[in-house]
Amino acid sequence: MAARIISGTEISAKRLDRLTERVTKLKAAGVTPGLAVVIVGEDPASQVYVRNKEKACARVGIFSEKIELSTSATQDELLAVVAMLNARTDIDGVLVQFPLPDHLNEDEVIEAISVDKDVDGFHPESIGRLVVGKETFVSCTPAGVMVLLEESGVVLEGKNVVVVGRSHNVGKPAALLCLEKNATVTICHSRTEDLAGHVGSAEVLIVAVGRPEMIKGQWIREGAVVIDVGINRLADGRLVGDVEFEEASKRASAITPVPGGVGPMTVAMLIENTVHAAVRHAGIT
Ligand code: GUN
Repeated sequence: MAARIISGTEISAKRLDRLTERVTKLKAAGVTPGLAVVIVGEDPASQVYVRNKEKACARVGIFSEKIELSTSATQDELLAVVAMLNARTDIDGVLVQFPLPDHLNEDEVIEAISVDKDVDGFHPESIGRLVVGKETFVSCTPAGVMVLLEESGVVLEGKNVVVVGRSHNVGKPAALLCLEKNATVTICHSRTEDLAGHVGSAEVLIVAVGRPEMIKGQWIREGAVVIDVGINRLADGRLVGDVEFEEASKRASAITPVPGGVGPMTVAMLIENTVHAAVRHAGIT
């Protein structure tokens, strides 16, 4: 049977509608959430991502400000912008778009952002809080993955979850979030032996490796739920995920498409994190 499609486009739209209602009420109470997005240089993909973030802010009615620095900006200049944004009371969330040009140090920039404005959830303290199960800003992509699973009625308790990819911002937090839901979690990566075997054991499979169609449809366990975080552009212009979609959908019970799966959720979760930051800054519970 063909897999059910888990539509991030629909689920994110629903989420953004709910956030719009929340923001309308907050604004009536004198609280306007604000997001600052810093972009350094001219990377075309980053320009698109930043535009999408600004559009989402406008859609839900939150204030957004884009700060553009030239490719030749120095680390000190960038850190000074972050410090200025940390100090501004009309800004609740600070996001520096990555990747930065090679001469800039991303780790230092992440650590310079105030933890209470870390809506990307990239700060080591935010990640540390996630590890110990405390409330924190969760990195937007894995947060979006969890919402997709929840909204699709997938119960993780006791399930075999396999996460392929161990990045700080996606694979590791996704694994921790599934563990928090009492799943049995395996993390696979580039040195994993018998990747196909591990993938085949997954009742829920989350893939975030950034390699086009690396996970073969034949590997998927019958009835598995497949969440494909990858968005890869092929030489012929097509966008594909990290999973062979057609073949995988013949075996999976539910699967995210690319595009229209995890991608739209990431922006929705950024807006949600910014609204939460504003609520906290305003002292509202
Ligand atoms: N570049 C690609 N995705 C992201 C993201 O979620 N946050 C930031 N800061 N940069 C990115």
